[in-house]
Amino acid sequence: MKSKDLLGIKELSAEEITKILDTAAEMKQLLQSGHKKSNRMVGKNVAHMFYENSTRTAVSFDEAAKILGAVSCNLSVGNSAAAKGENLMDTAKTLNAMKFDVIVIRHQASGAAHFIAKHVEASIINAGDGGDEHPTQALLDMLTMREKFGCFKGLTVAIIGDVKHSRVARSNIYGLSKMGANVRVCAPDTLLFAGTRELEKDYNVKFFKTPQEAAQGADIVMALRLQLERMSKGLIPSIAEYHELYGVNEKLMSHAKPNAVVMHPGPANRGVEISSSLMDSDRSLIPSK
Ligand code: CP
Repeated sequence: MKSKDLLGIKELSAEEITKILDTAAEMKQLLQSGHKKSNRMVGKNVAHMFYENSTRTAVSFDEAAKILGAVSCNLSVGNSAAAKGENLMDTAKTLNAMKFDVIVIRHQASGAAHFIAKHVEASIINAGDGGDEHPTQALLDMLTMREKFGCFKGLTVAIIGDVKHSRVARSNIYGLSKMGANVRVCAPDTLLFAGTRELEKDYNVKFFKTPQEAAQGADIVMALRLQLERMSKGLIPSIAEYHELYGVNEKLMSHAKPNAVVMHPGPANRGVEISSSLMDSDRSLIPSK
C-alpha cells in the first residue's frame, strides 16, 4: 500500500483494492475456521474514536483488532475530554503521543480523517466521515459482490436512494468503477449532492431518472438508507410517497436480471428504502435477514 492510512477509495488503485479484498478473503477463512486467532498485529495497539453512532463498523474494528492480536482501545467519545471542549486534533495528537499504531475514526465532519492523518504518525482508518467516504463499507460490499459473481468486469450495480447523504454510495461509485463494474445511480433530485453528475466524467457511473430504468438488467440493486437525521429541511414529500416511488421491493427487482441480488449497507429502515419482505428474501445478501 502506498499510504500509511486508509482514508477513502478515491485514493486507492485497482491493484490496492484487489490486494485488500484478497487479504479480507483470507481473513474470512480464518473467521470460519473456528480458530479466530492470528498474530499479524501482536505488539500493536488500535484506538477507536467514534463520534457518530455505529453498530457494524465499531464492533467489526474492535473484533478485528482483538482477533489479529492487537490491543484494542475504545474511546467513549461522550465520556472523553471531547465533551469538555477538546478539539479533534488535540484528541488525535494525545492518542498519537501515547504511541497508538492505528487510529480508527468515524466523525460527522467530511474530511476529519484526512485532517488528522496529516498530523500524526499513526495509521488513520476512516470509518466514515460526514458525507464524504466510508471506504471499509465499500470494500466489504465489493468483497461480497466478488464472492457472489466472481469478478467486477461487466457487472451492473444499481444504487438507489439517498445519494446526497451517503458516504457508502460515494465509496462504492469510486471503487466499483475502478474495478470495471457499470455503476448506475438513481435518486430524487433533492437527494443528489451538488456536482453528483460531474462524476460521470471521471467514473463509470450513469444517472437514471427512475429506479425502474436503473434496475433494468442489473446484477445487483443496492438500496441506500434514507438519512433523515442529516436532513435539515424536508427533502421528500412524505415517507410513504418516497417508498412508493423509490423503495426497493420485489416489483422493482422484477426489472433486474432473474438471478439479481439486493444489498444494503445497513442499518436499514424497513418499509422505507427497502421492503421488509425483500430484505428477508433469498435474493437478499443483507446479514440481518
Ligand atoms: N454500515 C455501517 O456503517 O453501519 P454502522 O453505522 O452500524 O457502523
